[in-house]
Amino acid sequence: RIVPVVLCGGTGSRLWPLSREGFPKQFWPLLSERTMLQDTVSRAGGTGFTSPLVVCNQAHRFLVAEQLRAAGVSEPTIVLEPVARNSAPAIAAAALLAHEADPEAVLWLLAADHAIADVAALHAALEKAATAARAGRIVTFGMKPAAPETGYGYIEAGAPLEGVEGVSSIASFVEKPDLATARAYLEGGRHLWNSGMFVATAATLLAELERLAPGLLATVRAAVEGATRDLDFVRLDPPTFERAPDISIDYAVMEKTSHAAVVPADLGWSDVGSWAALWEVAAKDAAGNATHGPVELYRANNCYVRSEGVLTGVVGLDDAVVVVTDDAVLAMHRSCAQDVKKLLEQLKARG
Ligand code: GDD
Ligand code: MG
Repeated sequence: RIVPVVLCGGTGSRLWPLSREGFPKQFWPLLSERTMLQDTVSRAGGTGFTSPLVVCNQAHRFLVAEQLRAAGVSEPTIVLEPVARNSAPAIAAAALLAHEADPEAVLWLLAADHAIADVAALHAALEKAATAARAGRIVTFGMKPAAPETGYGYIEAGAPLEGVEGVSSIASFVEKPDLATARAYLEGGRHLWNSGMFVATAATLLAELERLAPGLLATVRAAVEGATRDLDFVRLDPPTFERAPDISIDYAVMEKTSHAAVVPADLGWSDVGSWAALWEVAAKDAAGNATHGPVELYRANNCYVRSEGVLTGVVGLDDAVVVVTDDAVLAMHRSCAQDVKKLLEQLKARG
């Protein structure tokens, strides 16, 4: 059985004012009745999977435990980080814990904040990935790129793997290229986006971390050895984990490993990183508007309008985003969705 490992320590800052440090986007219902975390674990439930290992910030432990309980997840392991150190230390901790139980366990590393429309295609791709993982590969899911996005990893597929249908080795992996490079990749037609999900055995992940990031692995190993356990929680030793370097798995391992492989797949995938991305994948009315909560629109087109409670009216706007929460309102042009980060920086500088 496959072990789902859910990474949910990110902050989702471009979805302000809904997504906050205390309550990031993965804990909100953005696309369905369920939260992004609940949707994620529901795709990794059933007979083919063990109960999940969830790695999150200690500040969100009750949020995570309650959302998993409400989603019907039994006996999760919730690994608590005292501080965010990006995905490589989180994955190292999960791999060490899974390795204790079974070194050859196949781990499915999942981001907690992705939309996936075609779950059957996802499970079919996962099956291929697991076969390659058992043969020692770290397998990525390759998405057909739609734009020269600079926030993604780019994968160039190499030769098909022998004996594993539908999986290729990786000729190169480049994390977050600059715009000119991303444009060249898109035009070249040979690159795929990295979906941010990975499949590998605990043993393979630890061997590659040992080779490519030995200091990181040693620090996280000490934090796991010093961990305290109560209820479903595994609390990584705070002073030790704080010494771990802040680096993503993409830079620490995927750009350098020679064991990488890719399953190209068409999953209806989106990482829902911004309000514009959310509008793209959300259900829309005939005028192209996506709405959530008590809102009223008149002569509005292609807008995303969301209210968490206050009745909100929009008149005569096209391509707008309006988000109303208990204590903040965002109004912007949809094309500026990436700049929410800038607004937040400005707010923080003001103190
Ligand atoms: N536990 C934990 N701790 N989880 C974390 C941390 C952390 O410190 N930092 C990030 N995560 C989680 C996020 O919540 C998310 O689910 C996942 O790890 C990926 O982190 P992001 O910060 O969202 O990464 P990214 O979007 O910049 O890039 C990754 O995803 C892209 C696709 O969405 C990379 O894998 C790219 O190559 C990929 O294209
Ligand atoms: Mg992301």
